[in-house]
Amino acid sequence: MYQAVRGTSDILPEEQAYWRYIERRAVDTCQLYGYQRLDSPTFEETGLFTRSVGQGTDIVEKEMYTFADKGGKKVTLRPEGTAPVCRAYLEHGLHNLLQPVKLYYLASIFRYERPQAGRLREHHQFGCEAIGDDDPSLDAEVIDMAWRFFLSLKLKNLSLQLNSIGCKQCRPGYLTTLKEYYAEYAESLCRDCQVRLNRNPLRLLDCKQPSCQRTARAAPRSVDHLCADCETHFNQLKGHLELLEIPFTVNHRLVRGLDYYTRTVFEIQPEGGGAQSTLGGGGRYDDLIEELGGKPTPAIGFAAGIERIILNLKKQEIAIPAPPGVHVFIAHTGDEARDESTRLASRLRQAGISTVAATGKKSLKAQMRQANSLGVRYAVIVGDEEIKTGTATVRDMANARQKTVPLDDLPGMLK
Ligand code: HAM
Repeated sequence: MYQAVRGTSDILPEEQAYWRYIERRAVDTCQLYGYQRLDSPTFEETGLFTRSVGQGTDIVEKEMYTFADKGGKKVTLRPEGTAPVCRAYLEHGLHNLLQPVKLYYLASIFRYERPQAGRLREHHQFGCEAIGDDDPSLDAEVIDMAWRFFLSLKLKNLSLQLNSIGCKQCRPGYLTTLKEYYAEYAESLCRDCQVRLNRNPLRLLDCKQPSCQRTARAAPRSVDHLCADCETHFNQLKGHLELLEIPFTVNHRLVRGLDYYTRTVFEIQPEGGGAQSTLGGGGRYDDLIEELGGKPTPAIGFAAGIERIILNLKKQEIAIPAPPGVHVFIAHTGDEARDESTRLASRLRQAGISTVAATGKKSLKAQMRQANSLGVRYAVIVGDEEIKTGTATVRDMANARQKTVPLDDLPGMLK
């Protein structure tokens, strides 16, 4: 028997209500903030991601689904949503529109990670990107949007972690200081961190190993090494968040796992959550568009993981709206009645009434069991005898009351 590939999952009908609920909240939030949808292809040229996400990152080094297509072109299944949006922004001349351009997506994301609860090899993200403005009020707006999106889902006890990791002017100096600090502890670091020390020192700060975390706690902080512009930007952002009454914690070890970030980085976590609990995160990426061949274009965005949201909705026992069910079931007894029930089902559906008609040759009792399990409000019973008089029996499933109704009146009556 075949099974879904490890780290991927089927979204069964009983789960769909969660997905529709989250998607609707996402789309409504985007409408409120003036973001428009952009869908990019599921795979892109590999270079787009190595260039943007960064060579020293886990995503590029270990997690991308990369293969050569039949024409020998190296392509990669989308391991994140920001680079494709930036590529589309450049390719379609969106830089010619009034800036900032505000876009969102709901997309599947592929990362070859070690599967566990909240960590899949194919997961889904709701993401937003605001491109073409470096104003800290835009950072605040994106954070506000992420925050309100989670609140609109009725999630409770969330925390917003915030940091600024500087820009290409001030970050090199900070990285030198960081490396000098870590050099003293090099031998006590985990093997991953020993590699990070040279390849990606910023990532030393968010290592999950307890001994590395101890070292990270006393490490130099990026906010103490910001240039004047970055410092002003960060202070203004914090001011805007206070204005918007969004509670935040400055987390000096928050650095994120993708290399394109500059200045603002943030994550939203459920309180007391473990490493795989982060619901969403994002930040500024002021150099990315230029790195991909465009003019210098500041931008900021965030993305949320749908599967992780569902885990938390369930954990917090948040009731979600039930999806609309089937309203009418048509049972039949006899061959002529079967033909009539087929015709009737079609008429009811054309009148906008959700209808299921029995198939096969089941007993009336078995057909009524099916009506019950569908949870319909009305069962319509068509028999050969009733057809002669042009009627059917309608049973109100809520109270088992029955009445005889002319077939022609059924659509109007059931509506
Ligand atoms: P990210 O933090 O890598 O950011 O992913 C965003 C969210 O996707 C995470 O917070 C988490 O909820 C979810 N997620 C990530 N990996 C997995 C996984 N393996 N299984 C389940 N859920 C996962 C980005 O991807 C950036 N592109 C976000 C961004 C947009 N930054 C600026 N604009």
